[in-house]
Amino acid sequence: MNTPIFFQLHQIDDQALAAEAAAGLQATPAHASPKFFYDPLGSRLFDTITELDEYYPTRTEAAIVAAHAPAIAQAVQALTGPHPVMVDLGAGNCAKAARLFAVLQPRRYVAVDISASFLQQALQGLQREHPAMDLAGVGLDFSSRLQLPADLVDGPALVFYPGSSIGNFAPDDALRLLRDARDLARGGGLLIGVDLVKPIALLEAAYDDALGVTAAFNLNLLKHLNRLLGADFDPRGWRHVALFNTGASRIEMHLEARAATTVRWPGGERHFAAGERLHTENSYKWTPDGFAALLRDAGFTRVQRWTDAQGWFGVFLAGG
Ligand code: TRP
Repeated sequence: MNTPIFFQLHQIDDQALAAEAAAGLQATPAHASPKFFYDPLGSRLFDTITELDEYYPTRTEAAIVAAHAPAIAQAVQALTGPHPVMVDLGAGNCAKAARLFAVLQPRRYVAVDISASFLQQALQGLQREHPAMDLAGVGLDFSSRLQLPADLVDGPALVFYPGSSIGNFAPDDALRLLRDARDLARGGGLLIGVDLVKPIALLEAAYDDALGVTAAFNLNLLKHLNRLLGADFDPRGWRHVALFNTGASRIEMHLEARAATTVRWPGGERHFAAGERLHTENSYKWTPDGFAALLRDAGFTRVQRWTDAQGWFGVFLAGG
């Protein structure tokens, strides 16, 4: 039996994170990076979001992949050849990729996430089920640059980026990431899930559910900032706001001050007027043709796509 190997490629530096958080709070308009959602409670709240009736993306993507798995696998192998290296971006518990192992039969699986130690358990479990597969875990924040140790990808690869996380990048940044993904695939392909434009009521409900789980997820960022910065946010003084910005084609998440307040932390403070907002995340929604055009801009020449019957979500395979 093989053993997984691990690389931690970036330092998680609390002081740099605190400085970044403080700068965002003092900007106009105030903003906080979505990475501040993901403390241990935030990650559990996010898992819960994916089970909500209103949050259609996770289950719609899974249904598309399940319904078309043989066709997708055949199209992938036409790009990569048999037994590709599979690189999973934002792998988390590795479950989405593992569901494709039977049809794709990768010879090596490289799981990339912000923390390599988080990948450890998942990869050890996978190794027991797939004793002969090469498994690697890479700790990397690829939001600014996606580059892996040279010999991890030693031939045409399948880069897998599900969950419409690409939607959390502004179009220019998404383009840069897709170009990096194309280089990483070394002549193979990219299999990517993308949430699509649809009626506003459906989009807004997905980010503002009846049970308030998404609101709790957004508000939990304030508790994370309190810990990271030593700030004194009172989450009860803030309201979750999710709105679709039609011009920019994106869901925006904000936290809105219910009344005027001053937030303080060692070395800084920020006054918020009543109704003033802290912008926490964008989730861009693409049209199928718009996303195919972005893939072509990134250098891919062959683009295939699968969607659900309602056209809510797209799974794209890009190569060439
Ligand atoms: N990328 C997914 C999306 O935009 C998942 C996600 C990221 C999300 N942050 C979120 C979902 C905040 C709900 C709320 O839909």
